[in-house]
Amino acid sequence: MTSDHWQAIKALPQIPLTSLFEKDTNRVANLGLEQAGIYFDLSKTHLDDNAIQAFQELADEMDLSAKVAALLTGEPINISEGRAAEHSAERGTGNPASVDNAHMLHQRMKSLIEVIETGVLGDFTQIIHLGIGGSALGPKMLHQALKLGDEKYELAVVSNIDGAALEPVLERFTAGKTLLVIASKTFTTAETLLNANAVLDWMREDGITDPLGQVVALTAAPDQAVEWGVDETRVLPFSESVGGRYSLWSSIGFSVALALGYEVFEDLLAGAAMMDQHFQDTPWGQNIPVMAAFADQYYTQVRGCETRAVFAYDERLGLLPDYLQQLEMESNGKSVTLDGEPLELHSSPIVWGGVGTDAQHAVFQLLHQGTHLVPVEFLAVIEPGDSLHPAHHQGLLLNCFAQGAALMAGKKSDDSHRNYQGDRPSVTLLLESLDARTLGALLAFYEHRTFVNAVLLNINPFDQFGVELGKQMANALAADDGNQLDASTEELKKRAFGPGQ
Ligand code: F6P
Repeated sequence: MTSDHWQAIKALPQIPLTSLFEKDTNRVANLGLEQAGIYFDLSKTHLDDNAIQAFQELADEMDLSAKVAALLTGEPINISEGRAAEHSAERGTGNPASVDNAHMLHQRMKSLIEVIETGVLGDFTQIIHLGIGGSALGPKMLHQALKLGDEKYELAVVSNIDGAALEPVLERFTAGKTLLVIASKTFTTAETLLNANAVLDWMREDGITDPLGQVVALTAAPDQAVEWGVDETRVLPFSESVGGRYSLWSSIGFSVALALGYEVFEDLLAGAAMMDQHFQDTPWGQNIPVMAAFADQYYTQVRGCETRAVFAYDERLGLLPDYLQQLEMESNGKSVTLDGEPLELHSSPIVWGGVGTDAQHAVFQLLHQGTHLVPVEFLAVIEPGDSLHPAHHQGLLLNCFAQGAALMAGKKSDDSHRNYQGDRPSVTLLLESLDARTLGALLAFYEHRTFVNAVLLNINPFDQFGVELGKQMANALAADDGNQLDASTEELKKRAFGPGQ
C-alpha cells in the first residue's frame, strides 16, 4: 500500500453486507445505477459512503479527471508505446481528426459490405474470419450474442494454430461460397497467417484459380496486407492507436457487420457512445465504470481477492468471460507503474467464469464455502432469448438472483460442513434486452472500468509486452538455431519430434 489514501482505504471498518443493508434503507436506490438499458446493482458489494468517499479521494490523488479527459481526447496516454488509445474515437468521442478518420474508415467498410451484397465479388454465403486475441474474441462473442439464426451468412471465427480448429470448418464449408476475412492488427501474427495460407490452399485444391480474390483484410498495417497479396480495395484499415483488445469497434467488426447487417454494427457503436458520454460526464459517485472499479480495487487490495468470477445467466453471453479475460488481464496484468517502478499493489485479478445455471453445479461450491473470497459478477437479461415455455427463462433469472442472495446471506448451522459463512459480495448487471445497443454499452462499460482500475493502480493498460517473450521463444524453437534450450524443453522437443529435430 503506497499513499495515505490507500492506507485510509485499508483501515476502513469491515462491515458485513447484511449490516450495510440494515444501516442504510436507501442502499438499493443509492447503489443501483442505470444506464443505456442496463441496471447495475452494486448494493451487494462492501462499498458504503465512507469507502466511496475514500476512493474518491484516491481518484483525485491519481488525477482521474485529467486522465479520463486525456483518454477521451486522444492524448498519447499509452506512454510505453508513445501513442493514444483511441477506441472511443470509433464511437464518436475523441480527437476530432481521429473521429473523422474512424468515420471515414467505417464508411469504407460499409461500402465494401454493399459491394459484397451485390454479389459481384462472388456468391458468398459463408465467412471464415481468421484472427486471434483481440482480432477474434470480440467478433466471436458479438456474433454468438446477437445472431438470430436466420442470417444469410454462416460465420466461423477460427483463431487457434491447432489444425483441429480450422479443419472441421473446411470440411463443412464450400470453397466457392466462402469469403475469407483475415483480421490482424499487425498482419504478422503467426497463427493467423498460417491459417490464412491453409484456407487459400483449400480454395486452390477446390479449383479456385484466384483465391486471393475472395479475401478481405482487416488491419492497422494495410501495406503489409497488400504485400501479402490482398487487393488494396479489399483491405479495411483501422488506426494504429486502437489497441487489439479494444478493436471490435473498428474494421475488426467487419465480419459481424456483414453477417448480421451494418445497422447492427452501427447500433453497437451507438450503445458504446452512450456509455462514453456517461463516463465522461458523470460525477464519480454515480459513474458506473468508476464505481465498479472502486469495488474491484477494494476486493483486490483490501480483501486480498486474487480472482473475480463472471457468470452470464444467458447462453448468448457465454463467450463474454473469455473476452473479458483478455480485456482485463492483458490490460492490467502488469507489475510496473507508469514510471517503470515496481508496482506495490496487486494488479488485475484473474478473471474467470462461465454460464449459469451450469456453473452452479460445477464451481459454485467453492464460491459458497471455499477459503477464497471471490467477488462474483452476475449478468442476466430480462427479455428471454428463447421461445420455449416461460418457465425456462423465469427459472434462469430466479437462479441468478438466488445465488447472489445466498452468497450474501449465508446460513448458519451447528454442523460446520453445512454452514454457509455468507457475506460474499456480488454485482448484478441486469440488461433489459440483449440487442446491439445494450451490448455496445456493456462492452464500453467494461473498457472504461478497466481503464479506471489502471489509473488507480498507476499502470499503463494499453501495452502488452508480456506476450512477446513467449512468441520469441516459439520462433527460437522453430528456428532450431543451435542455441541450447533448458534441459526440460529440449526433452519435450525430442519426445515430440524425435532426436536431432
Ligand atoms: O499476442 C497478443 C496480441 O498482440 C494481442 O494483443 C492481440 O489482440 C493479438 O495478439 C492479435 O494480434 P494481431 O491482431 O496483430 O494479429
